[in-house]
Amino acid sequence: MTRIAVAEGDGIGREVIPIARRVLETVRPDLEFFTVEVGYGRWERTGEAITPEDIRSLKEADAILFGAVTTPPDPGYRSVVVRMRKELDLYANVRPVKGGEADLVIVRENTEGLYAGIEEIRPDQATTVRLITRRGSERIARFACRLAKGRRHLTIGHKANVLKADTLFRDVCIGIAGETGVPVREKFIDALCLDVLMHPGEYDVIVTENMFGDILSDVAAYLVGGLGMLPSGNIGDRWALFEPVHGSAPRHAGRNTANPVAAIRSAAMLLGHLGDREDEARIEEAIGRVLAAGKKTRDLGGSAGTREMGEAVIAALPR
Ligand code: NAI
Ligand code: MG
Repeated sequence: MTRIAVAEGDGIGREVIPIARRVLETVRPDLEFFTVEVGYGRWERTGEAITPEDIRSLKEADAILFGAVTTPPDPGYRSVVVRMRKELDLYANVRPVKGGEADLVIVRENTEGLYAGIEEIRPDQATTVRLITRRGSERIARFACRLAKGRRHLTIGHKANVLKADTLFRDVCIGIAGETGVPVREKFIDALCLDVLMHPGEYDVIVTENMFGDILSDVAAYLVGGLGMLPSGNIGDRWALFEPVHGSAPRHAGRNTANPVAAIRSAAMLLGHLGDREDEARIEEAIGRVLAAGKKTRDLGGSAGTREMGEAVIAALPR
């Protein structure tokens, strides 16, 4: 029995994840689901946004479907997302951007860089260390090269002209691309952010350290209609968690205005990760048919509500 943990989280996570789950239930009635409550709502109720017990439950799943959490206004708060990524060692953040001229995948290192949590806050000076290790760079480079092998080529996005740490990241990536026979190019991350918008067809797999990938993927969302469209996978050697790239969008929460496509696509990626490429493709096709028929949520210039959009995708799925 394949077991899926579902953590809706907060805000629009509570609206889009139930739809994504129904999509999974429709195409794969054999899956078993269990829920895990994490996030701001949980923190308000219990004083803890996520516990070691929750991490243990998540580790029991074959894959995790996650929404988004709202960051509580608590100076001592530790990010739920960063904690899950660390404790489950989900080192590769995979963000496909597909639509129009774009067919690229951003592979973002997910455990190091500025998000490694090495910080010192003093009254007049605050420091965050940007940690790049050989081991961390090697495993993300290998992951990106495996992906690029079945595709076209790899681009390394970095800032090695200014940051010494990025010289290590870049050199390790170039070395592993050479070893695995993947055609490789490099580009400074700032120039890459512009060029990916101007010439998306020039890019295939892009590998970056943590924060650069975070920023680049929101930038690249522009190519496909915004954050409501982008799914992601957080993948490690043992566990994997799938979530929309967007956050909890509190302004949309409870208003039936959020676009559920990013969440549904994340569910499709989850199936692909479990080896079910057929159902992954079927879900993508259903989304494509609904959009082509003109049904769109407001972020895409349409008028469909979250639920209506979800129902349309579910109705378009083959039974
Ligand atoms: P956000 O991604 O939640 O929203 C940014 C804007 O993008 C929204 O105002 C909205 O206009 C648009 N948007 C995002 N998703 C959409 C959707 N499905 N449909 C239609 N429009 C959509 O990012 P923001 O506002 O910076 O953060 C809000 C909260 O979410 C914060 O508390 C933040 O910490 C948290 N967050 C959580 C993440 C996670 O759990 N993985 C990731 C990013 C932010
Ligand atoms: Mg982000």
